[in-house]
Amino acid sequence: MEQTFVMIKPDGVRKNLAGECIRRYEARGLRLHKMRLDTLTAEIAQEHYGEHADKPFFGELVKHVTSGPVVLMILEGEGAVAAVRKTNGATNPLDSEPGSIRGDFGLEITQNIVHGSDSVANAQREIGIFFKT
Ligand code: RTP
Ligand code: MG
Repeated sequence: MEQTFVMIKPDGVRKNLAGECIRRYEARGLRLHKMRLDTLTAEIAQEHYGEHADKPFFGELVKHVTSGPVVLMILEGEGAVAAVRKTNGATNPLDSEPGSIRGDFGLEITQNIVHGSDSVANAQREIGIFFKT
């Protein structure tokens, strides 16, 4: 069964949206495989977002995702990677459709509530970073 990695970012946890996000994934038919609350070190955040290391927003992104607790999870189900991306909505909440998590609860691109892997290969890479055992 396809697996994907999801992180509810510090703004999502701060706004008490963790349960709402998980509810939406589960309602869609995705199954929780592993989950924990954790606070990321800068090293782990930099590794996770390594593809963006040369982007102007990288520093702000790492600062945000290390600013408080996050919920880390592995979800599984048919087409899990794409299903989570659709449920999350477009990267910039101003472009996200209402009905998506970002479209319903956000306005700012850095504080866009959730992360979901963008491919099966990246899902496996990210699961390897956050769920080593
Ligand atoms: P994510 O990886 O967090 O699921 O988001 P994504 O695939 O939709 O977007 P991506 O291009 O991977 O960007 C990662 C995160 O960086 C922040 N970002 N800021 N200021 C900016 O122009 C900018 N662009 C991206 C967002 O928080 C985005 O989720
Ligand atoms: Mg991404």
